[in-house]
Amino acid sequence: MTHDRSAGKCPIAVIGAGTMGAGIAQIFAQAGHPVRLQARKRETLEAALQRIRVNQDELIRHELLSAVDAEAARGRITVTQALDEALAGAAFVSENIPELLPPKQALFAQMDRLTSPETILSTNTSSLPITQVARDTKHSERVVGFHWFNPPHLIPLVEVIRGEQTGDGAFDETYRLAKTIGKSPIRVHKDTPGFVGNRLQRALEREFFYLERIGTCSREDLEVALKQGLGYRWSVVGPFEHADLAGVETHSATVSFLFPLLSTDTEPPALFADLVAKGRLGAKTGAGVYEYGPGEVDRILARRNTMLIDFIKVLKKHPPLRALGPA
Ligand SMILES: NC(=O)c1ccc[n+]([C@@H]2O[C@H](COP(=O)([O-])OP(=O)(O)OC[C@H]3O[C@@H](n4cnc5c(N)ncnc54)[C@H](O)[C@@H]3O)[C@@H](O)[C@H]2O)c1
Repeated sequence: MTHDRSAGKCPIAVIGAGTMGAGIAQIFAQAGHPVRLQARKRETLEAALQRIRVNQDELIRHELLSAVDAEAARGRITVTQALDEALAGAAFVSENIPELLPPKQALFAQMDRLTSPETILSTNTSSLPITQVARDTKHSERVVGFHWFNPPHLIPLVEVIRGEQTGDGAFDETYRLAKTIGKSPIRVHKDTPGFVGNRLQRALEREFFYLERIGTCSREDLEVALKQGLGYRWSVVGPFEHADLAGVETHSATVSFLFPLLSTDTEPPALFADLVAKGRLGAKTGAGVYEYGPGEVDRILARRNTMLIDFIKVLKKHPPLRALGPA
C-alpha cells in the first residue's frame, strides 16, 4: 500500500505511551492525524490519555488551543494494547519505548514484519545509533530517527536523523511531516552519537560542572548565567549569527584564547554518583541536587510550562528570520 503522507492526515502509530509517547500522540492528533497509541498495560494508556487532557487544558487556559479543537484531537486518538492493531494501515510510526537497545531492536524487527515496506518507522531514541536500532529490519531504508524534546507538546525542535541505511524518501518525508505538525525540524545527516541537541547540551554541561567544581561560581549563579544570559540570547541569536553581530575578528580572538583553556573532563562529576547512592534521584524523590518541599515540584513544572507557552507566543509573533530550510 502506498501512503499519502503529504495529505497531512495520514494514520500515525505511536508505540509506547510514557512521558514522550503521550505528548507525541497529542501533537499528531492536534495536527489532524488519526493516531493509534499503543502500550502493553491498560493503566499506561489511561495515564497517557489523562496526561493529554492535562496538557490540553493548559494550552486552552493560555489560549493556544480551543476546547472544541482539543476535543476533536482527543477523538482522533484510539488506544490499544495490541501492536498489530496499532500498526494496521499506519503510514508513519513513532517508537517511544525505554532507552535500551535490545528491546528496541526486537520491536523494530517485529514492526518490520507487521507493516508494509512503505511505512516509515521512526525511533525517538535520545542516544542510540539509528543504524543499530534498525539492525534486524529487512527494510532498514525506512527506519529514521525522529527525536523530540521533553515536554514534546511544547518544545518546537525535533531532530530528523539519517541512519547509515536510511533512504532519502524516509528522511525527506519525515522532515516534511515534522513541519506540517508545526515543529521546527533539523536534518541530522550523520548517525553521530547523541545527535545534535544532546551533544550541544552535554558539551555545555561539562564546562558548567567544571566551573562549579573548581569554585569559579556557585551552582545557583551558574544556573542564572544560562537562564538569564546565554540561553535567553541563544533562543533569539545563534552562535554563528552572534559572531557576525559581535564582529568576526573579536569573536575569533576570544575563541582562540579560550578554547585551549576549556574543560576536557571525560568523567561525569562525582556529585551525581553520590546523589544516586543516597537515593536523591531528583524531583520524584523530593531531593536531588536541590531539595523540594511539599507541592514545590508541581509549582516549578507549572511555571516551566507557562514560560514555555509564553515563549511559543513570542515565536509566533516573531517567526525566525532565517527560513528553516526547504520543505
Ligand atoms: N523523557 C525524556 O526526556 C526524553 C526526551 C527525548 C527522547 N526520549 C526517548 O524517548 C523514549 C521513551 O522515553 P520516555 O521518557 O517516554 O520513557 P517512559 O519510561 O516514560 O515510557 C516508555 C513506555 O514504554 C512502555 N514499553 C516498554 N516496552 C514496550 C514495548 N515493547 N511496547 C510498548 N510499550 C513498551 C513502558 O511501559 C513505558 O510506559 C526513550 O528512547 C527516550 O530516550 C526521552
